Amino acid sequence: MISSIEQANELILSGNVVAIPTETVYGLAADAFNLVAVEKTFKIKGRPQENPLIVHISNLAQLEQIAHDIPDDALRLIKAFWPGPLTIVLKKKPEVPDIVTAGLDTVAVRMPNHDITLALIEKTGPLTAPSANKSGKPSPTKPEHIIADYDGSVSVIDGGHCKIGIESTVVDLSEDDAVILRPGFITSEMISDIIGKNVSTSEIKGEMKAKSPGTRYTHYKPKAQVKWLDETDTDWPSKSYFLFHTIKPKRAEINYYYYNRDYSAFARDLYDHFRTADHLGYSQIFIEKLKNSLKHPIIPALIDRIQRAIM
Ligand code: TXA
Ligand code: MG
Repeated sequence: MISSIEQANELILSGNVVAIPTETVYGLAADAFNLVAVEKTFKIKGRPQENPLIVHISNLAQLEQIAHDIPDDALRLIKAFWPGPLTIVLKKKPEVPDIVTAGLDTVAVRMPNHDITLALIEKTGPLTAPSANKSGKPSPTKPEHIIADYDGSVSVIDGGHCKIGIESTVVDLSEDDAVILRPGFITSEMISDIIGKNVSTSEIKGEMKAKSPGTRYTHYKPKAQVKWLDETDTDWPSKSYFLFHTIKPKRAEINYYYYNRDYSAFARDLYDHFRTADHLGYSQIFIEKLKNSLKHPIIPALIDRIQRAIM
C-alpha cells in the first residue's frame, strides 16, 4: 500500500504501474507517454493488446496534449460531467503511443472524480488506466481486491471503497453521431439532454459494434454462475448467494443481502459480492430481476453488467 501521492508520483515517473482509486472502480495506472510502462500494464493484467486503454487526465491542457478536433458536443459534456464517470472517445494526436489505443486513430479520455488521483495526475501528467482487476476477474472496488488479484505485488493507493462501483460510461464522439459504447452512471438521456440530439447505443440488434473492443470480453464474470431470480420463482436452491433489492426473504437459512431499493448501494457492492461469493465457494449467485423501467441512472449499467456476467 502506498502512503503518499509523492511516493506514487515517483513510482509512475520511474516507469512503474500503480493501482489508483477512482469514483467508479480502481485503475492500473501508468505514464501514458511511457511505452514500456504501458506495455507492463497489459502484461501484469493479462490483457489482450488489441483492447485500448482509457487515458486519465486532471485538467483541460492535458486534453489538448492527446486529442484534436474536439467537437463542441464533447466540450459541453466535459462542462456538464467532468470530473466524473464519463469517458469520451475523440480523435487522437500522434503523440499518444499506438500501444495505448491499440492502433486506433481515436483515444478514450476521462477525468476521474477522486481527489487523490486528480492530485497525482497533476504531478504525473496523463495516465493510462484499465480497471485494475486481473483479466477475467470483476473490476476492483476496494484495495483488497487488487492485493488478492496480484498477491500483493502491485502498489496500491488506498482511496477507500469506490463510490459508484460500475465502470464509466464510454461515449464515442470521434465521428458525427454520438454513440454509447458502454453504459454507465451517465445515461444516454443525460448525454442527449446536454448535446441536444439523439444518442445511439452500439448494441444494434444484439450485435456489438466492432468499435468497442473491450465489450467483447466477458470480464465482468465471477466463477460462480450468475442468474436472475424472478419474483415468481419459489424454488430457491439453498446453497446459493442471493442479492435482493425489493424482496426481503423470510428464510433465515439462505445467504442473502437486501438493498431496500437502494440501487446506488447495490451497484457499489455488486463486484464485491461477486468476489465474496467466489471466495466462499458458492457456485451460484441469484440476483432479483431488475426492470429497465426503474427510474435510477445506474439501472441500465447495472443490468448490462449483470447480463454480461450471466452470458
Ligand atoms: O470507470 C472506468 O472507466 C475505469 C476506471 C479505472 O477509469 N476504467 C476502465 O477501463 O473500465 P477498461 O480498460 O477496463 O475499459 C475501457 C473500455 C474498454 O471497453 C475499451 O475497449 C474501451 O474502453 N476503449 C478504450 N479506448 C477506446 C477507443 N479508442 N475506442 C473505443 N473504445 C475504447
Ligand atoms: Mg475492465
